[in-house]
Amino acid sequence: MENKDNNFLYEVILSCDNAEEQSYNLYDNEKICGAEILDDNNIKIFLEKIEDKDNFIDYLNSLDFKVEEIKEIKNENWTLKCKDFYKPLKIKNLFITPEIEGQETILDDNLLNIKIVPGMAFGTGHHETTKSALLLLQDEALLNNKDKIKKILDVGSGTCILSIASAFLFNTNVLAFDNDPTTLQNANENILLNKKQDSVTNFLGTIEDVKENDFDLILANIYAEILIEIFPKILEKSSLNSFLILSGIEKAKLSLVLDVYESEFGLLQQIIEGNWATLLLKRK
Ligand SMILES: C[S@@+](CC[C@H](N)C(=O)[O-])C[C@H]1O[C@@H](n2cnc3c(N)ncnc32)[C@H](O)[C@@H]1O
Repeated sequence: MENKDNNFLYEVILSCDNAEEQSYNLYDNEKICGAEILDDNNIKIFLEKIEDKDNFIDYLNSLDFKVEEIKEIKNENWTLKCKDFYKPLKIKNLFITPEIEGQETILDDNLLNIKIVPGMAFGTGHHETTKSALLLLQDEALLNNKDKIKKILDVGSGTCILSIASAFLFNTNVLAFDNDPTTLQNANENILLNKKQDSVTNFLGTIEDVKENDFDLILANIYAEILIEIFPKILEKSSLNSFLILSGIEKAKLSLVLDVYESEFGLLQQIIEGNWATLLLKRK
């Protein structure tokens, strides 16, 4: 199912046992571009296209949602529909808060506020992989070495949430990139919104395009297969005694990633959240 132009979206009504709690399973699904909690048992989601309807319904069933209705609607400003969906999130000393047009931005004066516009890029902070990476970014091993962390690289930056958080936490420069062109506008919007344009540089590309070396901290929240594939490049880009945060690793593939990375990096911390593993490593 594909819309003929950008003026239409698919609207899908889902029923479930607990809309508030189960809505967390829908965050950061790259196909879902917006959502609205209707009541305790119903959620409305919006998609630009549905590639395989049966597959999509199976996927939602696997998350304990029942599909009640799928219809084509006129594309209004879908972010307005997200106001009940994206909630602020406290991750240790960080407060990740959604910035939505027409809605007051909630801030926490006691925490470091990071504003994120919910858009097409991955990285609202709600997905386990981002959440765990943000937790490990605040690990003592890193914060106690703040003065040694001068250059940071964010591999697969999405919304730039990890870049912005590290620019705040380490008060230093971050080079970020993503190979998906649809993330760029959203990432740049977030960088400006958080006034980090002087420290965070985001570009469209892959690790092959990074000319600099000697990064003291590298962040990579991407699939295990890609992490394994780019290991030689990650090593080339990391300074001696540098730190590395790897996320996006399915639990079942953790040992494959460790087999490769532990040849050159020692494991300091690991977080397992749901089906996902996140690692903090230090170059040997
Ligand atoms: C799981 S998201 C992580 C986004 C954000 N860093 C976060 O932690 O929430 C992975 C991102 O990596 C990008 N990506 C996947 N493979 C890549 C590659 N080989 N090079 C650059 N970016 C890649 C995707 O487009 C996506 O935006």
